[in-house]
Amino acid sequence: LRQQWLDRIKTAADPAAIEEVRLAALGKKGEISLRMRELGRMTPEERQTTGRALNELRDEIDAALRARKLALEDAALEERLAGEWLDVTLPGRPRPRGTIHPISQVTDEVTAIFADMGFAVAEGPQVESDWYNFDALNIAPEHPSRQEMDTFYMHRAEGDNRPPHVLRTHTSPVQIRALQEQGAPIRVIAPGRVYRMDMDQTHTPMFHQVEGLAIDRDISMAQLKWVLEEFCRSYFEVDEIELRFRASHFPFTEPSAEVDIRCSWEGGQLRIGQGDSWLEILGSGMVHPYVLRSAGVDPDKWQGFAFGMGIDRIAMLKYGIPDLRAFFESDLRWLRHYGFAA
Ligand code: PHE
Repeated sequence: LRQQWLDRIKTAADPAAIEEVRLAALGKKGEISLRMRELGRMTPEERQTTGRALNELRDEIDAALRARKLALEDAALEERLAGEWLDVTLPGRPRPRGTIHPISQVTDEVTAIFADMGFAVAEGPQVESDWYNFDALNIAPEHPSRQEMDTFYMHRAEGDNRPPHVLRTHTSPVQIRALQEQGAPIRVIAPGRVYRMDMDQTHTPMFHQVEGLAIDRDISMAQLKWVLEEFCRSYFEVDEIELRFRASHFPFTEPSAEVDIRCSWEGGQLRIGQGDSWLEILGSGMVHPYVLRSAGVDPDKWQGFAFGMGIDRIAMLKYGIPDLRAFFESDLRWLRHYGFAA
């Protein structure tokens, strides 16, 4: 009897089967229970020996059932673990990783350098009214820079005779917007996209400028010079920097200067800071009283400087990139070559 039960327990394959065996043996109508009940009809001697044997058998069956249940659970866990086995030492599958576009990197860098000198960031729309882009900046309607030649005009609806909006041709309209919003004194830069109809090795129809504007009671060109020299030292990472201010003309500054940086070309390699060559990097000047008045600032109380620098241009210079168009072709091989992508 004992062996029969132990065999049944050993071959029970799942929890349901174990429960079945338990009921058949130890349940109310189970075999062992029924036999226990028969004890009453036995002689005291028989009862004592059979009773003890039955008690032992019951305990043994009970223990065997529990052991079998544990063994089954262990086996199930083992199987699951085997199925879920994970080799944590396997190298991961490489995934393509994005990187910050070089122009954005340079913009961030430029912004950080000017931030150290106390310049906050101002912004304006890329689709600009002709008033902000031209009139407010003292650019008369007949001025050559208004010609369809290099300005992108937005179309008005048929019958709408208001002057068309333009894609801003420079970041200078942000001078007006920042002054209108914040008034004087002010110290801001305005990095962003600008648009002109032009396309060759050093021009793309969309490019980037950073505008600078500092207005206070007595700001002079000497401060403009210092700020630009400080910027160049920091940006080009050379101690010796020489800037050359060339008299120029912009309608929105008086006097105006184009600024060149001293450099050399040794075996086709550009070196900033020393040499016999000059490279133009920006336009600048003292803000024209007309511009201050346009923005509601009293030119008898306030004065200051402004400059506009090509971000793409200084990016080309720093990284030795010969063709500006490559910046906007999203060619991963090109980006990797210059270390701009992983
Ligand atoms: N807006 C001028 C340009 O795009 C640059 C400039 C800005 C010049 C501010 C003077 C002062 O060429």
